Amino acid sequence: MPSLQPPSAAASPPPLFSMRDVGKRFPNGTLALQGMSLECGDHEFISFLGPSGCGKSTALRLIAGLTRISEGALEWPERPAPADGQRELGFVFQEPTLMPWAKVFDNVWLPLKLAGVKRDAAAPVIRQVLEMVGLSRFADVYPRELSGGMKMRVSIARALVTQPRLLLMDEPFAALDEMTRIKLNNDLLAIWREHRFSVVFVTHSVYESVYLSSRIVVMAARPGRVVETFGIEEPYPRGEEFRTSSRYNQHCMAVQRSLHGALGGQDIDH
Ligand SMILES: Nc1ncnc2c1ncn2[C@@H]1O[C@H](COP(=O)(O)OP(=O)(O)OP(=O)(O)O)[C@@H](O)[C@H]1O
Ligand SMILES: [Mg+2]
Repeated sequence: MPSLQPPSAAASPPPLFSMRDVGKRFPNGTLALQGMSLECGDHEFISFLGPSGCGKSTALRLIAGLTRISEGALEWPERPAPADGQRELGFVFQEPTLMPWAKVFDNVWLPLKLAGVKRDAAAPVIRQVLEMVGLSRFADVYPRELSGGMKMRVSIARALVTQPRLLLMDEPFAALDEMTRIKLNNDLLAIWREHRFSVVFVTHSVYESVYLSSRIVVMAARPGRVVETFGIEEPYPRGEEFRTSSRYNQHCMAVQRSLHGALGGQDIDH
């Protein structure tokens, strides 16, 4: 019998995760998130952008399973089970949260150690992710010997060591100076392009979100909710040429307008 579905629909893989009308109310009554719907496919770069308190971290924590949803549905459709030592997702927090008593190598080993992988067996992949983030020469130093940007690189390496399909990043570069942030933006894009995982990235910065993302979810507060979603249909690799182009500026202005609308004209931090 002929299928009624168009071939492209039949062939498209299931999303990595999907959220349908997801809400989160905390026990104290705060409605942190309301009616959020989102599907994330393979190799997407999605940013959550919005003012303080709009539920960005809450949404990320719900996706990670660190907090339970109160309403709606959050699903991870059936996928082949990850191989040994692999995980569905990695999480990068705003603070690098490294163990000060452990060398860089051992900090990166931690998720594999917790999964029961011995240090020697983990060594090749640890070396590989340290190389990816440009820290090959720093495996044997302690976190206190590193700059803020280098600590964040260690934190990214630690999240990637389990080869996740999805990398969740909560304002990872907010505490860094502008030049370091730009460098880390470029390096993150290069790693993402080569290794083809998906990213959900939280930021306050319109400019950073447009530079990095294939899709931007603009959010507003009280209650936390999605206001508008933008597709940034610009080719990768993106570099200085894109950052200084009029198309980049047009995207930034459109996203900025949406954010201002959501804020009712208040000043925002970008
Ligand atoms: N554990 C909690 N218990 C009660 N309320 C919470 C809890 N965590 C967050 N909230 C509230 O939920 C709302 C959304 O918080 P969330 O941390 O998700 O915002 P955010 O967009 O990440 O803000 P920021 O940009 O400042 O990090 C806020 O009003 C916050 O006070
Ligand atoms: Mg937050």
